[in-house]
Amino acid sequence: MAKFKVEVDREKCIGCGMCASLCPDEFELKDGKAVAKKAELEELGCAGEAESNCPVGAIKVTKEE
Ligand code: F3S
Repeated sequence: MAKFKVEVDREKCIGCGMCASLCPDEFELKDGKAVAKKAELEELGCAGEAESNCPVGAIKVTKEE
């Protein structure tokens, strides 16, 4: 089964909160910056939407075969 790896570049994140509001199951803000609640997902779900809507491109979702 495919898995998705989720990474947040906390250097790039400006804490806009878009990811946490689009995808609260996977992203939350800690100390003003986003963190992924789970490093790996079984299904992409809303994480892809968060990735494409982050204004600074701080979220990276990669599919692992
Ligand atoms: Fe940060 Fe982007 Fe989320 S700036 S708070 S990772 S939408």
